[in-house]
Amino acid sequence: MLDLSLEVIRVVEEAAIASARTMGMGDAKISDQAAVESMRCVLDTVPIDGTIVIGEGERDQAPMLFIGEKVGSGKQSDNGISVDIAVDPLEGTNLCATGGAGAITVIAAAERGGLLHAPDCYMEKIIVGPSAKGAVELDAPVKHNLKSIARRLQRGVDDLVVVVLDRPRHQKLIADIREAGARIRLISDGDLSAGIAAAVAGTGVHAVMGSGGAPEGVLTAAALRCLNGEILSRMIIKDEAQAERMHAMGIADPNRIYTTQDLAPGRNIIFAACGVTDGNLLKGVRFFGDGTRTQSIVMTSTPAKVRFVDTVHLENRPDVKVRFL
Ligand code: FBP
Repeated sequence: MLDLSLEVIRVVEEAAIASARTMGMGDAKISDQAAVESMRCVLDTVPIDGTIVIGEGERDQAPMLFIGEKVGSGKQSDNGISVDIAVDPLEGTNLCATGGAGAITVIAAAERGGLLHAPDCYMEKIIVGPSAKGAVELDAPVKHNLKSIARRLQRGVDDLVVVVLDRPRHQKLIADIREAGARIRLISDGDLSAGIAAAVAGTGVHAVMGSGGAPEGVLTAAALRCLNGEILSRMIIKDEAQAERMHAMGIADPNRIYTTQDLAPGRNIIFAACGVTDGNLLKGVRFFGDGTRTQSIVMTSTPAKVRFVDTVHLENRPDVKVRFL
């Protein structure tokens, strides 16, 4: 597949800059809308024939980036490369609205069929980095998984940091982690950026546990395919309507355990994220009068490359100074 790295960086950077301007306004919808509009606009300049498989929701709920929407400048020509696209234009809408840590803009793409078309339901998840790959099981007792992770990381369970979404549904999980002796970082939102951080050594995140959005799960899997990490997951079906929806989306057995490869099976995966507010892995957008600086990560599975990108946006102003880091 043509290397779209520079193209997808533009997509996440512009969405991050647009949403960062709304930081702290206290309105998650406005923040999300800024990211969506910008992402949609830049995506249409990318030479692809893209189909949104994970986006802002169904066509009737979302005016832009809805599931099934065609995007890219190649959508009406024979030359555009056919790709499936998963987006989370602003992961952590509340984080951006309140200026909290860890909001990011995200896109993943793969050849057709390379990303699971997951419905907007919850998903049980356990996420670890390359060192602990193969050492955890979704249904194993928490204590058992933490011991295995600690062994692989050559440290004690009490040295581990597990990220968990701070939700009442995680009361038992949190109690189990505490009982096992590991440390916990409770987050108000953003299990996708936590999942990426778990696969990057030095971020201080060793695992993510608990349930969160299934779309975020697929995007996490796309990132982990490039970072050699692991996610194990299972959809949580709320009601009969959701079960039917899953069936219609081609998910025959929603109770099965989905691995990283099941969620993002593509041979050619590309993933990009840009920091909106400062987080474990990426700095947020910095405005410095005349210019803007962003930090992104862009990764491809084939060839296997992870790039950290620090961009100064001079915005065609002749007097903007570029400072070394
Ligand atoms: P949004 O950015 O769409 O607000 O989602 C943030 C998030 O915290 C995800 O990271 C997570 O997977 C999901 O919401 C959890 O859902 P809930 O808030 O319903 O527990």
